[in-house]
Amino acid sequence: MSVRRASTDFDAIAASYDESRRANPALAATLGQLFEGRDGPLLDLGCGTGNYGREMGTLGHEVVGVDASPGMLGQAVRKLGAGQLVLGDAQGLPFGVGAFSGVFSVLVLHHVPNWQLALDESVRVLGAGGRLVVFYGTQEQYMNLWLWEYLLDGPDALPSRRPGLEESIKGLRSAGFARVETQPFSYTTPEDAALFVGAHAPELYLDPNVQRGIRVFRNIEPSRLEAGFERLRRDVESGAVTNVMARHQESATVRGDCTFFVADL
Ligand SMILES: C[S@@+](CC[C@H](N)C(=O)[O-])C[C@H]1O[C@@H](n2cnc3c(N)ncnc32)[C@H](O)[C@@H]1O
Repeated sequence: MSVRRASTDFDAIAASYDESRRANPALAATLGQLFEGRDGPLLDLGCGTGNYGREMGTLGHEVVGVDASPGMLGQAVRKLGAGQLVLGDAQGLPFGVGAFSGVFSVLVLHHVPNWQLALDESVRVLGAGGRLVVFYGTQEQYMNLWLWEYLLDGPDALPSRRPGLEESIKGLRSAGFARVETQPFSYTTPEDAALFVGAHAPELYLDPNVQRGIRVFRNIEPSRLEAGFERLRRDVESGAVTNVMARHQESATVRGDCTFFVADL
């Protein structure tokens, strides 16, 4: 997907984004711990409407947000302040060498066409000893979502390819990070209704607000999407969805819904 396409897609959902997407407390707490005691400015890479940047700001960090979508940045102004926000592409960051002591990026990397370039750019803008924390669902986690049993019944509905676990670690190492650790994360509360939030609470996927805030649904042909949600609605009502969920339970528990990648220079 081109940057223009990503930007347009997010511009289209920017105004309503925060209706279903607020900072997830457990995710924000982990992010806070991972940067605890680290001085210097942090870059919120793909800051969106500023939900996690604001959380890090309340912990005392100076946060600069960058995003490719003017619409999302427009929503972030009241949370981070216009002076802290920059329109830019993760693949060519508009900042100098070593400008930040840390970079964090929540649910962004899989939207970036050349994610390796985004990792390389993160290294360039990080100072010595800098840390990058990237959070997203890997290809394995993504494909294990039971939701696809309802929505993926045709080739036109195939979801986009995203980096896998090993591929991401390899990409971080080749960008120059000396130490890379991973931490699985599972959604247990609904504040940030990302694609994975309904993994354990299927009724969330039936909420039109939640559906509107999840960009990948826009890739699926509308009548197919509607038919899939209708089947899910029937299975939620009858309880049959629990059998579908059970088929994915074991690997979901092992793998988590998403992954924190913690990379140090
Ligand atoms: C799902 S939102 C996440 C926003 C925010 N990090 C959060 O978790 O609340 C993904 C964001 O990535 C941004 N994005 C996508 N591709 C980008 C790129 N190439 N460079 C910078 N931002 C990008 C989108 O505009 C969007 O705001």
